[in-house]
Amino acid sequence: MTTAPSADDLYAFLSTTRSIRRITDAPVSDEVLNRIMQAAVWAPSGGNRQPWRIIAVRDRTIKERIGRLYSAEWDKYVEYNVSKFEGHPPAVVAQVREAYTGGTRLAETLADVPVLAMFIHDPSALYVTDADLGRHPVVGGASLYPAVQNFLLAARAEGLGGVLTTLVCNRETELRDILKFPTGWGVHAMVPIGYPRGNHGPLTRASMEEMTSIDQWRD
Ligand SMILES: Cc1cc2nc3c(=O)[nH]c(=O)nc-3n(C[C@H](O)[C@H](O)[C@H](O)COP(=O)(O)O)c2cc1C
Repeated sequence: MTTAPSADDLYAFLSTTRSIRRITDAPVSDEVLNRIMQAAVWAPSGGNRQPWRIIAVRDRTIKERIGRLYSAEWDKYVEYNVSKFEGHPPAVVAQVREAYTGGTRLAETLADVPVLAMFIHDPSALYVTDADLGRHPVVGGASLYPAVQNFLLAARAEGLGGVLTTLVCNRETELRDILKFPTGWGVHAMVPIGYPRGNHGPLTRASMEEMTSIDQWRD
């Protein structure tokens, strides 16, 4: 297709593509997976170097091993966030914990998700233009995450759902052992995808006016 989708269709699509954590175990065909991975490969990267790869994990034993790592990181993340509400009434703490139920369920059942797309990158191939500014550099990620977003949008177009996750990136050494990617390469995302149990729907976001300005910074 060379014609663009209508603007209305595109905006409707973008404004409803939310994270899907409730995913069925219905299989995703190779044809569908290949089309989604092709969409990822079309993403731009600095100097068009494409310093990343996807390892699409279907093997149950491998998914279980990744699931154990992800679950441990997820539990730490939930406890950290809940701990910020220490001293609040128990009902409030319970409500905070409740907000993580969907994520906890995904973590506990990760091996049932048909595909775990593991996004791997070569840090030495990134030209990091903000590396020497005395703050945390972020530009390197700009050569990596457009592909993840293309992947998620294409998955949605195929009737699938998924979520960009990063918690397991912290377990790079164990992931290298499991997935056999080269020393020096890193993991920048894990995207579980499959046919959704829930629905896509309206996003919760700050308003465009709050997030943007014209010509100069606006408080
Ligand atoms: C950089 C990044 C890291 C994320 N990591 C995780 C994660 O490890 N686990 C998870 O369940 N969701 C993760 N998310 C999903 C966000 O929680 C989610 O996109 C956000 O809450 C907005 O919700 P929505 O996508 O449903 O609109 C991540 C999203 C981004 C952009």
